[in-house]
Amino acid sequence: MPIQPAKQLSFLRNNKQVIYSLLVVILIPVLIVLNTYIIITKMQVNLDEELRYKAQLAAHSLNVALLNYVDEPNEVEEVITNYAKFTKDVKNIQIIKKINDDFKIVASLNPEDKGRLVEGQDKTMLAITWYDKNEISTEMRADKRMEIAGQEISFDERLWAVRTPIVNKDGNEVYLANIWVSTKNADINIANTVTVAGIVLVLTIIAVILLILGNSRLFQYAVLFEKLKEVDQMKDDFISTASHELRTPLTIIRGNASILVEDFSRLKKEEITNMHEQIVDSTNRLNYLVNDLLDVSRIEQNRIKLELSEVNVLEIGRKITGEFKNQAKEKGLHIKENFADKPLFSNLDKAKFEQILINIIGNAVKYTKEGEVEVGITSNEKGNSILVRDTGIGMDEDERKQLFSKFYRIRNENTENIPGTGLGLWITKQLIEMMQGKIMVESIKGVGSQFTITFPKNEGKLTSQNKQK
Ligand SMILES: Nc1ncnc2c1ncn2[C@@H]1O[C@H](COP(=O)(O)OP(=O)(O)OP(=O)(O)O)[C@@H](O)[C@H]1O
Ligand SMILES: [Mg+2]
Repeated sequence: MPIQPAKQLSFLRNNKQVIYSLLVVILIPVLIVLNTYIIITKMQVNLDEELRYKAQLAAHSLNVALLNYVDEPNEVEEVITNYAKFTKDVKNIQIIKKINDDFKIVASLNPEDKGRLVEGQDKTMLAITWYDKNEISTEMRADKRMEIAGQEISFDERLWAVRTPIVNKDGNEVYLANIWVSTKNADINIANTVTVAGIVLVLTIIAVILLILGNSRLFQYAVLFEKLKEVDQMKDDFISTASHELRTPLTIIRGNASILVEDFSRLKKEEITNMHEQIVDSTNRLNYLVNDLLDVSRIEQNRIKLELSEVNVLEIGRKITGEFKNQAKEKGLHIKENFADKPLFSNLDKAKFEQILINIIGNAVKYTKEGEVEVGITSNEKGNSILVRDTGIGMDEDERKQLFSKFYRIRNENTENIPGTGLGLWITKQLIEMMQGKIMVESIKGVGSQFTITFPKNEGKLTSQNKQK
């Protein structure tokens, strides 16, 4: 049988352990992803710090290398070319001289730079460096393919640009140097780490999923545990109800039978008749109990066979209502009939339909002390419906919710002396649903209850397919 989404939801609601396990299952991979992300981000930040420091160090050592040549412009270019050979991440070095308010590149690893005046934001940076006498480093991204000193800088290569003052032996600023240190190698390392971390992550998640699948029995245990609790509760309910329901009629039968055996000669005729009647009533009660229990087991094992045929709902309704008239009269209850004036047909199992009506009308009479019981049989666009309304003890919201549970009986001073197993409505609901019907209850405590049963109308002839269910 396909499981409906609504049923699945209520299944989850009733099996908190499954929700908990699912959360753990989701949480583990999420935590692994988060962990990987945090580690990689942190690593990137640390590496950037490291590179920036390296760029600044390069700037200082360049100054040392240039110290003896600051006054000989022709030597400067050779010094920086040599210097670049030994520092593999340095992509460009520009030596810049301040002339009045301008900054002119006097030497560069990139020959095209030489003689050019620096303009724009770069110029501002150089001015700040010059007047502050402090280096400034900024991150930049090469946005065009450049070849500097024979080395190509690709499109998305990141660089640290460090502007630093170059001083002579007396500590006076002579030039400014602009040094570009590439982060390419570090970035490649990070990219490799990300790839490895990604692979490890995927493998870990696969391992977790395999583990969970392998242990799916855990879920079954959780469900089984809930079921066992339910069954255990049902067993308790069953024992308490059944023993009570067995004991009362058995006590009456045994008591009356032994009096009849021992004192038969001394008993008056009407006393004997009365005792016999009580024995018959109690036997009937035992019979109902056994039949109810048999019905439950048949329904649960799917062994109920429906014999569907075109049934006149009105005719059966009238008959069963009639059967309760005596019982109602004895209790001083009025039975009100509200029947449609023409036959109403539905595809039903006649005997099961009678059983349903006996349960519902029986309950209305049983749980009403005074007033009336109304049976209405009508038809509307939803189908043929049977309405049973009483002015009985009624029930509150909580009681109404449990009404169709197996062995459920409302226990209070109003019901303590009324016999019953609490199976009637459960069986009734199962039978109604088997015949494509619906049952609804409205009730107010102390005022009364109203049960409405609706079956689809019989439209067209019975087919052999829906004849047997
Ligand atoms: N019309 C009603 N008015 C008030 N309470 C009702 C009515 N019908 C059912 N109930 C309450 O619902 C409970 C369950 O009803 P149900 O028919 O399943 O069992 P029962 O009548 O106790 O026993 P059984 O029908 O098996 O002999 C009843 O015990 C009763 O408390
Ligand atoms: Mg009942």
